[in-house]
Amino acid sequence: MKIDVEKLRAEIPATEEYAYLNHAVVSPLPRRVSEAVARFVADRGLEPRFYTRWQELEDMFRQAAARLIHAEPEEITFVHSTAEGLNAVAQSLPLAAGDNVVLCDVEYPANVYPWMNLASKGVETRIIPHREGGLSIEDLEEAVDDHTRVVTVSSVEFLTGFHNDLARIGTLCRERGIYFAVDAIQSLGMIPMDVRAYGIDFLAAGGYKWLMGPLGTGLLYVRQELIEQLRPVYVGASSVVGGKGFLDYDLTFQPDATRFKLGTINKAGMAGLLVATEFLMAVGIEAIEARTRHLTDVLIADLQRRGYEIASCLRPERRSAIVSFVVPDPQTACATLHEQGVIVAPREGYIRVAPHFYNTEAEVLRVGDVLGDAR
Ligand SMILES: Cc1ncc(COP(=O)(O)O)c(C=O)c1O
Repeated sequence: MKIDVEKLRAEIPATEEYAYLNHAVVSPLPRRVSEAVARFVADRGLEPRFYTRWQELEDMFRQAAARLIHAEPEEITFVHSTAEGLNAVAQSLPLAAGDNVVLCDVEYPANVYPWMNLASKGVETRIIPHREGGLSIEDLEEAVDDHTRVVTVSSVEFLTGFHNDLARIGTLCRERGIYFAVDAIQSLGMIPMDVRAYGIDFLAAGGYKWLMGPLGTGLLYVRQELIEQLRPVYVGASSVVGGKGFLDYDLTFQPDATRFKLGTINKAGMAGLLVATEFLMAVGIEAIEARTRHLTDVLIADLQRRGYEIASCLRPERRSAIVSFVVPDPQTACATLHEQGVIVAPREGYIRVAPHFYNTEAEVLRVGDVLGDAR
């Protein structure tokens, strides 16, 4: 599927103002997404059928999210952030003193603290050094032992854009009976995801980066076969099957992923994320991956020609739409770029550039135009 860039740019008002290359932080909202949110807010449903309509909206969201990651709708629930989803999993897994969780030292904090917070239960978090900006399978094999219960990783690392080898990590986890958790916020909407093929047990992702949804939205996937093993720590009216009436209390958890839903969720945001997810799937996630690969090819070639060191791994199978490169003073360089309408982010000594499918070659080349050659 070929992407009609000109037509799709008209959907994204930010293109009129900026060369926006910062999707690893937050996406501008496509017109149809902000319209869907506004529609929901205006029409909050102050009529008798509101509950049915809210339920239909949630069903549609779960179906769309399931299609995006090759799961079943019952395995999906809405969350407000990646950290909310990962905490729900970490706190509800049957882990005990002496167990350990393995992750690497370039994970974003949302996928670190939920696991470190299990120290109070005697669960150890083993943080192993990254290689080339991501998790090395060889190092992982060395680090896991008979007490390893969870391996957790970002599908794409936030700092380097390293695209972790989920299939191999999933195989290792399956062979050793280890739970496999994934923070997918930096890849959903940019690279195809298949939780079945990769053997992923749990996946959480906010919706406001590559998925182009509103802030305060996201999804949690829990593999159906594991749901009964997970006992939520927080519960509310939505977490349980409940009795016939509101006062007929019955703490029987929902048999699906909605056992992690507490109460009323950000439905306006969910309406937006639904439209965003459908929009990106209509553009085609494989086409988006190919398009962003082309744009980052152009970017990398230009930066290298100008003498910059690329910090991201350049092996094709480990690349993503995130490219980080080295400058002496990233804060000042980013401020200069911002003044010129080129939006990128400073991250830990690098400039991180993150173009999406609707960006153009001319836009990615503006990074080098503004900065000039490396000295
Ligand atoms: C890998 C990764 N995980 C999670 C997040 C954000 O987490 P949350 O949705 O909990 O704010 C980011 C944001 O930069 C990220 O890069």
